[in-house]
Amino acid sequence: MNIQWYPGHMTKAKRAMKEDMKLIDLVIELVDARTPLGSRNPDIDELAGGKARMVLLNKSDLADEKANEEWVRYFTDQGCHVVKVNCKTGNGLKQISPTVQEACREKIERDRRRGILNRPVRAMVVGIPNVGKSTFINAFAGRACAKTGNRPGVTKGNQWIRLNKTLELLDTPGILWPKFEDQKAGLNLAFIGSINDEILDKEELALELIRFLRGRYPGVIEKRYPGTETGEDSPFQILEQIAQARSCLLKGGASDSAKAASILLDDFRSGRLGRITLELPPAAAG
Ligand code: G4P
Repeated sequence: MNIQWYPGHMTKAKRAMKEDMKLIDLVIELVDARTPLGSRNPDIDELAGGKARMVLLNKSDLADEKANEEWVRYFTDQGCHVVKVNCKTGNGLKQISPTVQEACREKIERDRRRGILNRPVRAMVVGIPNVGKSTFINAFAGRACAKTGNRPGVTKGNQWIRLNKTLELLDTPGILWPKFEDQKAGLNLAFIGSINDEILDKEELALELIRFLRGRYPGVIEKRYPGTETGEDSPFQILEQIAQARSCLLKGGASDSAKAASILLDDFRSGRLGRITLELPPAAAG
């Protein structure tokens, strides 16, 4: 299936982010644990320059735990400080502050040598749409946060959320745009719901998901939709079986495969099919 998407305002967003980078010490990049490379934009490496980097493997609750561990190793090997999180429940958030300190150790030491003590680390959250940036900021900042900046008499500036004595977050996250050099990355973004479904053929997408699940997670379809038997059937026949299992029938009794496609995609996206990771780190993928 051919997915093409050209987001507008790319140049403008990039320019704005470059400006914001001047204000911060640390880039906190959120990726979706189900497709960590597909949900990231490699341009961030250039944009971030030499800033300290942290990667949050978000939505780790929806991804395969074994794969999560492999991704933690992968990003650590790339020189990033990684934390596995679930921003919806707050799982893993406690680990962030100590990791920030570790990621910015050089800056903190440099400050200390210059006699600057306790200057908070300033960080910016970045990521493509829908990876959970707002959820993260809300969950992490919680009620304890106080907005600084834009004080009377100070020219309009950026809003900072003071999290504690050691960390301030720029309150507007940097929005990166998804980049898919290959169709597979585009497909993975479509599976997780990061590409507007209206521009996609949902049925075709569901068939691709069936192909993937059958190869990588055999048994999940049968488990979720009792009565289905994927065996030698084609993806379309499996979709029809899902329609039957969910009583999605058209007038006259034929299977409503469009409705079944929506159900399958919804079930996958919300984790009802189980914890599923769409891609493994390059070295582990085999
Ligand atoms: P963004 O700012 O990066 O665009 O993303 P946002 O925070 O709006 O989050 C996008 C969706 O992802 C939200 O769901 C949010 O609840 C969900 N989400 C964020 N972090 C996690 C996580 O760690 N685990 C899970 N399972 N979901 C997460 P939504 O459908 O738009 O809203 P709602 O279902 O929360 O109402």
